Amino acid sequence: MSPAPRKIFVSSALPYANGAIHMGHLVEYIQSDIWSRFQKLRGHVCTYVCAADAHGTPIMIKAREEKITPEQLVNRISKEQLEDLRAFGVAFDNFHSTHSAENEELVGRIYGALRDAGHIYTKTIEQAFDEKEKMFLPDRFVRGTCPRCKSEDQYGDACEVCGATYAPRDLIAPLSVLSGTTPVWRASEHYFFRLSAFGEKLRQWMARASLHQNITSKLEEWFEAGLQDWDISRDAPYFGFLIPGTNDKYFYVWLDAPIGYLASFLHLCRQRKDLDFEEYWGAGADTEVYHFIGKDIVYFHTLFWPAVLVGAGMRQPTSVFAHGFLTINGKKMSKSRGTFVNARTYLRHLDPNYLRYYYAAKLGPSMEDIDLNLDDFAARVNADLVGKLVNIASRCAGFVSRSFAGQMSATLDDRELFSRFAGAGEQIAGHYEEREYSKAMRIIMSLADEANRYIEQKKPWLLARDPARQADVQLICTQGLNLFRTLMIYLSPVLPMLAEKSRELFREQPWTWQSAGEPLLKKEINEYEPLLVRVEASQLERIIEESRESNNVPTNGPTDVPSNNAETPQITIDEFARIDLRIAKILKAESVEGADKLLQLTLDTGDGTRNVFAGIKSAYEPSTLTGRFVVVVANLEPRKMRFGTSEGMVLAAGPGGKDIFLLSPDSGAQAGMRVK
Ligand code: MSP
Ligand code: ZN
Repeated sequence: MSPAPRKIFVSSALPYANGAIHMGHLVEYIQSDIWSRFQKLRGHVCTYVCAADAHGTPIMIKAREEKITPEQLVNRISKEQLEDLRAFGVAFDNFHSTHSAENEELVGRIYGALRDAGHIYTKTIEQAFDEKEKMFLPDRFVRGTCPRCKSEDQYGDACEVCGATYAPRDLIAPLSVLSGTTPVWRASEHYFFRLSAFGEKLRQWMARASLHQNITSKLEEWFEAGLQDWDISRDAPYFGFLIPGTNDKYFYVWLDAPIGYLASFLHLCRQRKDLDFEEYWGAGADTEVYHFIGKDIVYFHTLFWPAVLVGAGMRQPTSVFAHGFLTINGKKMSKSRGTFVNARTYLRHLDPNYLRYYYAAKLGPSMEDIDLNLDDFAARVNADLVGKLVNIASRCAGFVSRSFAGQMSATLDDRELFSRFAGAGEQIAGHYEEREYSKAMRIIMSLADEANRYIEQKKPWLLARDPARQADVQLICTQGLNLFRTLMIYLSPVLPMLAEKSRELFREQPWTWQSAGEPLLKKEINEYEPLLVRVEASQLERIIEESRESNNVPTNGPTDVPSNNAETPQITIDEFARIDLRIAKILKAESVEGADKLLQLTLDTGDGTRNVFAGIKSAYEPSTLTGRFVVVVANLEPRKMRFGTSEGMVLAAGPGGKDIFLLSPDSGAQAGMRVK
């Protein structure tokens, strides 16, 4: 009898709902999705949750700028984030929000327990206050000169130049990021969580949790330095939950964010009879709980979070798994280098399976950074996935469909070889379990090499010409396909979409890990359809070029991702009237070196000439534009770009590519005419 399945709760860190999912985030979501899929494949009960991290000042400010409510902003962005993550195969069992009834309920329960147990106290502190905006400023919203190295324009908590950390008050000539005015220091009462009282409990948890050495040494450092009590409140205006018993104090976003893991789970439990919240989160629960996070948020997850849970009388995580940061071509992702690549930009050009595989091939259990080297990416994906893995199937499946009506033979050609593939299963599983994905990938790819060597030796394409050897061809191809199938099952946590297509080839029910050890014989398979094509260097180049431009081009170019009209906030007639729309005549149009979408235009706007960059190159030969009229936004703030300053924006319509429409050439227009 097989042992009872484990009951496992898995979470990924909750993405802030104020920006798009990018390649860095994907390290985390792909890492945790692989793990959760692996556990499910092994037959365990694994529940994988996530949510939008909705609260905090940056989201409140961004919503204000867009003239929408924070709720609207969070809904729009988290919907886009979830779509992007799904497109990459990330399969949460639930994706909820920290701004939800379930979270408010749990925050109330946990805070109430902490307060009743005496773990909360209030204290008056002084904080930077923006008198113009009438609000307290988070450290990151104050900038000034670094007190140590005197670099200008540094954040209120740390200097990016010399690495010094300090309080906003230490900055020389501090300014509010919001209004540009000098902040004053104002007193206010804050709520504190008595973290300092939890040292002993945290040490015990650390000993139990079998954390990676990277995390343990961080914790030792922090214990050494002494635990400081934690400020869990923020003054109004703030987007968050009100602290019970107050009308202007809110819970700091980081208090309710990890509780959001539980809220997402609770939301799911209330829809599914087979899941019981207390069985996972009640005191003394013996189910397993794991949080996947990035190295930047270890403090929150290994000090604050377990201490809050201890204080509230709840179980603590079984372990916390932290990964490193993504670099691209050895450097931090950067907009100017074009390496700040959003998930969507990637998806326009490349198959998500490639990235999942590449990350898996690089990931281990440590907090070391991982590098996405674009040359290596193409080489690795082409060699391993296309050249080795898919090659096995494409070399064998054709014969089976053409010569044997899709029928696989009743026995294997080389039983021993298959057994070796089946026998590797436990070692590969061990590596997945320990998050040693790169080791698992290495074993799988060396098996793929063996499978290709086998086919190479047997040469079914030669035997196929000999009518007397047909049975051998069928045996060899059946063998090859079975080796492929076993590897595909091992890889299915990493390549779920590819595994799905392969499973259809074999006309099978969903696989389990055990399926890998049982050959598929005497079965009819479907016609083979190519599973994956090679990555081309040009696709990568386009991704980089688009990432560079889409962040810098002052045109709502038709090639940008269309915004969701239903969600676009309304503007008033007065706001519209402030836009100076004018007809301009193109005096000169030139290509821009290093930009494949941009044209540099010299425009006559009736009051002089201007330089404007427009993303219309895909549709227009520059020489054909001279003398044509366009509509421009004439009072747009000039923007410095890599290529020069753009002094306005050209309006155009259409889906992009060859179809970008300007004004009709014979519109009888005149430069300087107002557009109404
Ligand atoms: N909202 C918080 C997490 C709250 S969890 C209770 C947050 N959000 S985030 O959107 O900034 O990041 C989400 C996750 O992505 C984090 O685990 C973070 O470490 C990870 N990454 C963000 N940028 C990353 C890279 N460049 N590289 C690798 N991981 C990165 O933090
Ligand atoms: Zn400095």
